[in-house]
Amino acid sequence: MLKNFWYAVEFADRVGREPRKVTCLGQDFVLYRTESGAVVCLSDLCVHRGGALSMGTVNGDCITCPYHGWQYNAEGVCVRIPANAAERTIPRKARVDNYPTLERHGMVWAFLGDLPEAERPPIPEIPQWDDPAFRAVEYEMVVDANYERTFENVVDASHTPFVHGTAFGNPSKPEIPDFRVSQTDWSAEADIQLSPPPPKGLWGLLSRGKPRPEYVTVTNAWYLPNIVKLHVRLPIGDLILYDFNIPLSQDRTLVKILGFRNFFTGAWADANARKRIEKILLQDRPVVESQRPELLPFDLSDELHVRSDALQVAYRRRRAQLIKQGWWVQGDDIITGDGPRRTATVIPSPARRDNPELASAWVHKARNGGTPQ
Ligand code: FES
Ligand SMILES: [Fe+2]
Repeated sequence: MLKNFWYAVEFADRVGREPRKVTCLGQDFVLYRTESGAVVCLSDLCVHRGGALSMGTVNGDCITCPYHGWQYNAEGVCVRIPANAAERTIPRKARVDNYPTLERHGMVWAFLGDLPEAERPPIPEIPQWDDPAFRAVEYEMVVDANYERTFENVVDASHTPFVHGTAFGNPSKPEIPDFRVSQTDWSAEADIQLSPPPPKGLWGLLSRGKPRPEYVTVTNAWYLPNIVKLHVRLPIGDLILYDFNIPLSQDRTLVKILGFRNFFTGAWADANARKRIEKILLQDRPVVESQRPELLPFDLSDELHVRSDALQVAYRRRRAQLIKQGWWVQGDDIITGDGPRRTATVIPSPARRDNPELASAWVHKARNGGTPQ
């Protein structure tokens, strides 16, 4: 898993004044809004006895732990310990990691890492969010597979006719003409020619009489660390999916999707659009859950790649560079895994760098990178 990125951790319309627990990179976080509406993201782990702040209450801009009532402010600094006599001072170790947040494209983004602002990788543009020609639906599903497996699955064009059959692919035309990958430090994109199946159901009915092209251009793109865009040009309009592969743990992924369409933009067609997204995910799920090894290999030569896998190969190469520069965090020393552990580690937050005088004052140690073999 990669630290030092902005992660879309929740749909923005689901975050309010009530504490909301979200999980990412195998760590729990609590989200809530301050009185002025800003989103706060703290490590969900009270430094006293590991109570879950997300089970507590928000008062003003502070959150109170449900166990012994310690109160933390929006910066994660403990400002009240009810059991202490009034003259006792609060230990400076009484603080939890606070992660920068942004609200953009209908999502809450948390910066999970300790890079200073100027060095943080960008959040991808999602122009459809602000474009009135497009209508968006939200969808999510948990998949029992590693997030890099589900991430690669979405940019993988050649599985389409096999896994999705005539729902989305065309089994009688499985070849993928060569395509060019254009890449930046944080993304890669390719226009891929796919032979479309005839549209079915409601969309088929409403597109009857329109000419059906031999190939359609599908734009597949990935944005680090875990987002995939799929732009399908249907005879009736554009369908653009942004697919956020959120690592709940090494072995479980919460797939959140923003699905945009510029046809049938009335609310009446939302349920149908969601059902189509669900159908695609349900076809992919058993396949990615059965992949072995469960985790994406570190060594490129541990799996065989062909020309049509160019987007995935580009990802694995870029990921290897980031591992080299120390951005990899292991998922196996998490506290939210299947078995209880005795040591809690957290993704280090920028506050750790900003306050060098506090270097030794953090109760929970920063999770390290381990050593990829
Ligand atoms: S565990 Fe949070 S106040 Fe004791
Ligand atoms: Fe798929």
